Amino acid sequence: MPAPRPHPALPERTREALEFLALYHAETGLSGLKARQAEVYRTGGITLSGAELTHGARVAWRNSTRCVGRLPWMTLEVRDLRHVTAPEEVFTHLLAHLREGFNGGRILPTMSVFGPGVRVHNDQLVRYAGYRQPDGSVVGDPQNVALTDHLRRLGWAGGPGTAFDVLPLAIEGQQRVTLFDLPADAVQEVPITHPTCAEIGRLGLRWHALPVISNMTLEVAGQSFPCAPFNGWYLQTEIAARNLADQDRYDVLPAVAAALGLETGSRRSLWQDRALLELNVAVLHSFDRAGVRIADHHGVTTQFVHFEEQERRAGREVRGRWSWLIPPMSPATTPVWHRAYEDTEERPNFMVQTPAWREARPGVCPFHS
Ligand code: ARG
Repeated sequence: MPAPRPHPALPERTREALEFLALYHAETGLSGLKARQAEVYRTGGITLSGAELTHGARVAWRNSTRCVGRLPWMTLEVRDLRHVTAPEEVFTHLLAHLREGFNGGRILPTMSVFGPGVRVHNDQLVRYAGYRQPDGSVVGDPQNVALTDHLRRLGWAGGPGTAFDVLPLAIEGQQRVTLFDLPADAVQEVPITHPTCAEIGRLGLRWHALPVISNMTLEVAGQSFPCAPFNGWYLQTEIAARNLADQDRYDVLPAVAAALGLETGSRRSLWQDRALLELNVAVLHSFDRAGVRIADHHGVTTQFVHFEEQERRAGREVRGRWSWLIPPMSPATTPVWHRAYEDTEERPNFMVQTPAWREARPGVCPFHS
């Protein structure tokens, strides 16, 4: 039997704390709920134990309506770093996160939760610079032009100017922002080659192995953790059907088509679709060859259906945002295409943050790099 819902007149923070404790004790079967509830009524909130924080972070993943890779939500490794607030220390722990999350290619879903006042300005730990050129074009990742400009304003001298320059991290903590260069050995990358078309390998494409999201606030038990970077492993369509293929990203389909020797004069030859397919083949092939874990859209959507069944058996309903769950290529070949989901947000969850450069940041001194 689910615990009765806390009274709606309670302050939001208190209510969410009580709701989370009820969920935590119901799902783990642990005793001691009464004592924890008493603490909430006494103080208006709670200080989460490490075990509660871990479970809350896992449930936040389970509740992420836009994520198709939720089946292994219980395996999320949570690094409890709530005592860490100094930028230098945060950086050291982020390097350890990159190493432990990558795990020699056998990527482990990992999250690091930092203390109050900490923010990473980058939206992922590994991002490629986007350099706006005088003629309006962009060298690198056009999605990261604003971030690149922000880092320049914070004092970054700029990189060598390739299409894949790894950006430094801007870490805010203890009222200051500091820039840190990621050492080459912290950033694992995979050069993109194709199993049969050597020309595609000569395009010089690459992508980083680990997506570590660092611009989402973890909301659990009425508390917010604005610095809680987390990683899973990539799904090849993210790289091959969006990051490299989108016209407002790397826009490489014309070059891939040329490498394949396709006739690009008529759109009705479907050269874009052929190039897209071979680029997806190339990304899967390259990650496999490099021994770096990566999902494919057929496998992950089949797993998602298993996740739905598992959740139903646990008495829970899976929410989802269909437009995010379907893959951006061949969506109707996957089971998710043929299903419908209710798209409502539950707590615990992750909230996207406003970029630091678009926020007024009173009291934060940006000149400490
Ligand atoms: N779509 C983002 C990217 O291409 C990554 C989002 C998280 N993806 C993941 N597989 N955990 O960088």
